[in-house]
Amino acid sequence: MEAGLVTASNAAPEVVPEKTTDVEAPPAVDEVVVLDFGGQYSQLIARRVRESGVFSELLPHHVGVEEVAKRRPKGLILSGGPASVYADGAPKLDQGLLELGIPVLGICYGMQLLALSLGGRVESAEVGEFGRSELLVGQPGRLLAGTPPEQTCWMSHRDTVFAPPQGATALASSTASPVAAFEDLERDLYGIQFHPEVVHTPYGQHVLETFLEDICGCERTWSAASIIDEQIEKIRKQVGDGRVICGLSGGVDSSVAALLVHRAIGDQLTCVFVDHGLMRKNEGDQVISAFRDRFKIPLVAVDAEDRFLEKLRGVTEPEAKRKAIGAEFIRVFEEEAVKLAGAKYLVQGTLYSDVIESGGGTGAATIKSHHNVGGLPEDLEFDLVEPLRTLFKDEVRKVGEELGMPERLVWRQPFPGPGLAIRVVGGEATKERLDVLRDADAILQDEIRKAGLYRELWQSFCVLPDVRTVGVQGDERTYGHVVVIRAVTSDDAMTADWARLPYDLLEQIASRMINELREVNRVVLDITSKPPGTIEWE
Ligand code: XMP
Repeated sequence: MEAGLVTASNAAPEVVPEKTTDVEAPPAVDEVVVLDFGGQYSQLIARRVRESGVFSELLPHHVGVEEVAKRRPKGLILSGGPASVYADGAPKLDQGLLELGIPVLGICYGMQLLALSLGGRVESAEVGEFGRSELLVGQPGRLLAGTPPEQTCWMSHRDTVFAPPQGATALASSTASPVAAFEDLERDLYGIQFHPEVVHTPYGQHVLETFLEDICGCERTWSAASIIDEQIEKIRKQVGDGRVICGLSGGVDSSVAALLVHRAIGDQLTCVFVDHGLMRKNEGDQVISAFRDRFKIPLVAVDAEDRFLEKLRGVTEPEAKRKAIGAEFIRVFEEEAVKLAGAKYLVQGTLYSDVIESGGGTGAATIKSHHNVGGLPEDLEFDLVEPLRTLFKDEVRKVGEELGMPERLVWRQPFPGPGLAIRVVGGEATKERLDVLRDADAILQDEIRKAGLYRELWQSFCVLPDVRTVGVQGDERTYGHVVVIRAVTSDDAMTADWARLPYDLLEQIASRMINELREVNRVVLDITSKPPGTIEWE
């Protein structure tokens, strides 16, 4: 069990459709399905499997046997989850899944479910086991082969397996888990209480790879780049000789999607880049030069700075800014789309995490339309082309690199659609303030890159609050802008920690900002993590 609440989604009723196994042609690469029981690391399990060279999909636990079987997976992993196996409405294990004739690995909650459904003893322990723990391997068996008798692992549970199911062998224990791993070779079932997918379990990847390769017999041939050819074919088939339009934001998702579609259909694609004047320094030029000059992709670049600034006049409230920018963005985009009469398809940089979020890619739920740019309206009448739907963010970057995208674009930190407007905080985003912020931001980016820290940080940027403070420069009293430095580390922007930037670097950044920017006389550092703060200030 992982700390957390039972949610409506993991309390969903079990659906047991009729079992069919011959739905689709065998997949070109080996696949392992991860069933999501609501654990906080479920996505990570799927990513780790892919990192091992085996394609993996994350499906909600209640999809039913048919949905799993039609993928013809070579193995099945049951993820952790926040519930107690004894809680009301706790997700159950569909016994049909154990009859697919493929190995099954249960992790944490998944292991407890396996144990319970096969007659093992699972009980709520007096004390939970959260964080680092020592794993004692009594006998490695097949699953833990090649790992040492004593090793560190990461635990997050309260329910505990006290006795393995009949016929299964207990392999390991930890302080709070009498049975921390078991296997039943006859039935091809395996369970581990610890989390192999997190970096705090040093032998975790080894155990996963043993399961994938030795137990499931997977060939480790999948890579993110291997989707390129497959997608090119798919895009050609979908759009035929139709015209396609793509809204470019300069962000990595829309850029990689555009590049891939261009590879497939060449000049049938036109990209539209709306420069709202809220980008970072030289960013618009970089996008234009990369796409138009380097990749020779037909690109309509709209300089709409004046229009956006006009709409932002007098607007100070964050959500009002977002709305004003979003609405104007749609207007500009639609005007351009009309000029490209006949375009029937729209490219979207939807990622796998968006697909999972909106129903797990089973077609069971409506897929949320994903907006990289500024939010396109639902009623734009285009068919969507979404070549990145199966990929996680880091995999999209690999595809970008493979397609020859410049390093600067591939590794660009996330940047919000409303841009610098929501970083001029507590006041109106005027041209003058945006320019000060843009210049300060350029210094920050320059120094962070020079220090080799750009990629390590999830985001690093400046904020310009609408306050002035008194300073003294030379013999003169000044009354200038305050610039805030915000730099965070994060995996997914859901939580973030403030980055411990070296003092010398901070000093260099502050001194450059004050010396080079006349309007700035004070630099401060934001040391708030998320939660309780958000990454952006507005
Ligand atoms: P917060 O500030 O909520 O941000 O911690 C989480 C992530 O989302 C980005 N962000 C936005 N992205 N439009 C966007 O496209 C927005 O309005 C927006 N607001 C925040 C933020 O930069 C961070 O990566």
